[in-house]
Amino acid sequence: MVSQVADEKPQLLSKKAGCNSHGQDSSYFLGWQEYEKNPFDPAANPGGIIQMGLAENQLSFNLLEDWLEANPDALGLRREGASVFREPALFQDYNGLPAFKNALARFMSEQRGYRAVFDPSNIVLTAGATSANEALMFCLADHGDAFLIPTPYYPGFDRDLKWRTGAEIVPVHCTSANGFRVTRAALDDAYRRAQKSRLRVKGVLITNPSNPLGTTVPRADLEMLVEFVAAKGIHLISDEIYSGTAFAEPGFVSVLEVVAARSPLAADVSGRVHIVYSLSKDLGLPGFRVGAIYSANAGVVSAATKMSSFGLVSSQTQYLLAMLLGDKDFTRRYVAENKKRIKERHDQLVEGPKEIGIGCLESNAGLFCWVDMSHLMRSRSFEGEMELWKKVVFEVGLNISAGLSCHCREPGWFRVCFANMSAKTLDVAMQRLSSFVHHASSFVDEAGRRRGSGPARSMSCPLAIKWAFRLPPASADRKAER
Ligand SMILES: Cc1ncc(COP(=O)(O)O)c(C=O)c1O
Repeated sequence: MVSQVADEKPQLLSKKAGCNSHGQDSSYFLGWQEYEKNPFDPAANPGGIIQMGLAENQLSFNLLEDWLEANPDALGLRREGASVFREPALFQDYNGLPAFKNALARFMSEQRGYRAVFDPSNIVLTAGATSANEALMFCLADHGDAFLIPTPYYPGFDRDLKWRTGAEIVPVHCTSANGFRVTRAALDDAYRRAQKSRLRVKGVLITNPSNPLGTTVPRADLEMLVEFVAAKGIHLISDEIYSGTAFAEPGFVSVLEVVAARSPLAADVSGRVHIVYSLSKDLGLPGFRVGAIYSANAGVVSAATKMSSFGLVSSQTQYLLAMLLGDKDFTRRYVAENKKRIKERHDQLVEGPKEIGIGCLESNAGLFCWVDMSHLMRSRSFEGEMELWKKVVFEVGLNISAGLSCHCREPGWFRVCFANMSAKTLDVAMQRLSSFVHHASSFVDEAGRRRGSGPARSMSCPLAIKWAFRLPPASADRKAER
């Protein structure tokens, strides 16, 4: 029976199910597939691929595990010794458990030093930030409407925002010249391009702190973004899924603080600024599927609440997390310690490449670094980037994410994750990179020309793989803008 379903002819599927806007053929996802085939294990498979393409936070698991040990009622569905099994097992009202929403609102306010205070009645629970972003698209954009997104951006947005909703993404091109900060000129340019393509712009979506840059958005840039959406009469979505990872100055500023500071002018935009959050990164719980939309717009909250029935958070999970996030002493300790550990691991990653002449964008947040390897490419082009990426995956055994999959306009940038592995594994990864660079540089002369045929270790790039050479940005933009 199973194989029958798998063999089903494509024409029996809906157009949506078969269409390519899911983005599954991006090198971002292909790298994951390669890792799955040959995963590194220090004992069982020391020659395997190290997964550095997954922004997962495994650094503070022991703190969560210790808390669970000390609070067995949370997982055991008990209160003061008595079972409460029936409460979460029975029908769930899609507004979510009040105890959990209160605890989540408090936790989100705590993350922002109470400079922004979250009202639980403005929260809509969703199955992760993925579901929150899609639900917001459904609420704010009709088929063919567009959102402007600064590049480079999280590769999953193509799937999350466009695939099922039919919304379009128009990239706002940011460059290394100013550390990839978004400018008013770049926003105006993207807006004009969208208009030229007859797309109705419904808003701007930013990720703060940024994935893949690992940088927080400066307050001045947030003010400029709020001015922009106010002037255009459009929405601003701020995906703040990494807010708890900001480990160094200038620190994280939520767009909510900026909106509050605009008061009394704030009234005009506060209903058009929406926040996406999730516990996938700050608490390292992507498997629990806990996310949220926060909006002061009653219409958005009402529509998104109705939509949330397609992706509710299990009551069992809400019960557990209401207790965990309700423990203020624990959350305070956890957040501080987690940031400390992220910083240590970040520093370890930055130091390794620096010693071998590879630079990283200066960053202060996130679970990854944005690394410039353009000097290792045979040609300064996206073909050169893909060639280098394949080498790094197959020869060096590191699955990193190519900048092109994040819609970066400049070839040679890669996102390298550091929080989903042990310090020892990160050391192995850095050693591999170092020997690759030493070897590769012996094949490149002073003028950057190749002298040999390439590194000696044999590279076996399976021919069966249909490598997705995504269109270079100029043509990709035209496609997105259609
Ligand atoms: C910016 C951003 N938004 C959303 C998501 C999806 O998160 P979730 O696991 O909560 O669906 C990710 C995951 O990497 C992300 O980086």
